[in-house]
Amino acid sequence: MSNYHIKHLEEYWQVYRKSVRNPENFWEEIAEEHFLWRKKWDKVLSWDFKKPEVKWFEGAQLNITENCIDRHLATRGDKTAILFEPNDPDEGAQHITYNQLHKRVSTMANVLKEQGVAKGDRVCIYLPMIPELAIAVLACARIGAVHSVVFAGFSATALATRINDCDCKIIICSDGSYRGTKTIDLKSIVDEALDQCPGISTSLVVKRTGGTVSMKAGRDKWLAPLLETANSACKATIMDAEDPLFILYTSGSTGKPKGMVHTTAGYMVYSAYSFKNVFQYREEDVYWCTADIGWITGHSYIVYGPLCNGATTLMFEGVPSYPDFSRFWEIVEKHKVTQFYTAPTAIRALAKENLDYVEKHDLSSLKVLGTVGEPINEEAWHWYNDHVGKKNSPIVDTWWQTETGGIMISPIPYSTPTIPTFATLPLPGIQPTLMDENAQEIKGNQVEGRLCIKFPWPSIARTIYGNHDRYRDTYFSAYQDMYFTGDGARRDAVGYYRITGRVDDVIIVSGHNLGTAPIEDAINEHPAVAESAIVGFPHDIKGNALYGYITLKQTGEARNQDNLRKEINQLITDRIGPIAKLDKIQFTVGLPKTRSGKIMRRILRKIASKDTSNLGDTSTLLNPEVVQEIIDQALI
Ligand code: WT7
Repeated sequence: MSNYHIKHLEEYWQVYRKSVRNPENFWEEIAEEHFLWRKKWDKVLSWDFKKPEVKWFEGAQLNITENCIDRHLATRGDKTAILFEPNDPDEGAQHITYNQLHKRVSTMANVLKEQGVAKGDRVCIYLPMIPELAIAVLACARIGAVHSVVFAGFSATALATRINDCDCKIIICSDGSYRGTKTIDLKSIVDEALDQCPGISTSLVVKRTGGTVSMKAGRDKWLAPLLETANSACKATIMDAEDPLFILYTSGSTGKPKGMVHTTAGYMVYSAYSFKNVFQYREEDVYWCTADIGWITGHSYIVYGPLCNGATTLMFEGVPSYPDFSRFWEIVEKHKVTQFYTAPTAIRALAKENLDYVEKHDLSSLKVLGTVGEPINEEAWHWYNDHVGKKNSPIVDTWWQTETGGIMISPIPYSTPTIPTFATLPLPGIQPTLMDENAQEIKGNQVEGRLCIKFPWPSIARTIYGNHDRYRDTYFSAYQDMYFTGDGARRDAVGYYRITGRVDDVIIVSGHNLGTAPIEDAINEHPAVAESAIVGFPHDIKGNALYGYITLKQTGEARNQDNLRKEINQLITDRIGPIAKLDKIQFTVGLPKTRSGKIMRRILRKIASKDTSNLGDTSTLLNPEVVQEIIDQALI
């Protein structure tokens, strides 16, 4: 029996039971056998969810890039590590071997050092999905700098907030990016952001589009000439197990984004282990995750997990609709992709298009299909299963979060029988539970509650950068000695989990996690706005779309409401990014509030979802009369 690579259901249960009975032994065995350590640990685990504090493999020393790159060179030096598929198919794919990756990462690491970056410094990376993005991430890890990747769809304000929050001194960006038919001028977004970031001394600019950009003397430097003169050998900086590896921001229920801090050893062990099992990765496979490296999915399952396993990982720059809706399937056929990992929103968008797009391609190389980011609806699941997998590739519905660092609940393909919309069973080492409204654990099956995790796993985020209190309050205060996920879930008769969705003020739009508070803050900046409340409502492709209820300072204002809607959405685009734009904006006379002044979003949610037959208990409302008025004028 191998703990590291599970191959059938009985084995899963054996391994799972062992992992729960003795977690320390379980993870120690995996860490011993499958990774390269400069020094072994003194202690496998110490933890206290009250503080909260979690440490894995304390005393160990390592560098994650030696595990992702160096140790493969002897046996896999000429194997493709990163397979880059550009936006424009005519540009041709690039195969970056492990040997080449080693050189490129080392060279970039030396450039960072020359620019004054030292161990522990934070480096912001704001790049499109080009090889330099993965290389920059690994170059930081090589020298112990903490990367903070910001998704290149975020606005200048959002970028500036993230740069300042963790005090980055350097940014790696590009002149522009390609997305389908569009060329985006990223550098000017960076310039605008940097006006508000006095801490940034240097910006290193990758040339991608060749568009005209302004380069600020003393601050902005083209990366290419620096790479040309830098040394291509760079010794890995030895890191302690609990040294931070990266910061990645996620939205929360309150205004400021949360900089989740992930540390080195535990994250490495868990991302590699979960990758191997959830995708049943084998040596000759070509693995493709369509996420952006700007999200945790890309960190764990494009970069670290696959490379730790010596895999070939495909990176795609473009969008599923360019040059046409067959692009994903064309890539699968062209590169004989074996594992394909995407989001329900992409599946739904493609399922709307002509079946020809998928049917005209040979998808027989596929062995495992994955989905992540939000609950997948039954219809999308079946389309994926029937037309992409041809009922031959198991679908792994993987539930996890930025905070968890790796996949937590998921089938093991070819072992766990799948059921549409069920994430099924916890991976080894993961101890989920459901809690009721009175903070009691719900035992037994066929029950529903709030999803918590009872025991630490190696890749749990260790803190929120600069705000440990917020970390404790958000994740460890709702239930005693438990990590609270913010999700609701059901456990069925056989113990399978089905995630039912967020139970807090986070709304998932097209797989993007959006907090209502930052959007409301942006809207409230508009001089005409008095107050606003955002809720989600069901949307065919995006899963959820945003519905805004907005009260104006002067009711009956003569202004054109459509213009106002445009201005509000522009403000949101400027402050956060286009992903947070509202689909519907209703101007209301007031918002339903409790006597303590809390907006009753439950009611607003129901109205936006056309579900007004039973609004539940409204007796605590201070102003029940506004409810009917909102219903009468609802945009549905
Ligand atoms: C939230 C975390 C983890 C990578 C992408 C999102 C939702 C994620 C599933 C799934 C149902 C899911 C949860 C979770 N979610 N995967 N398979 N089924 N819901 O990371 O931005 O941190 O969002 O995404 O609500 O809490 P994230």
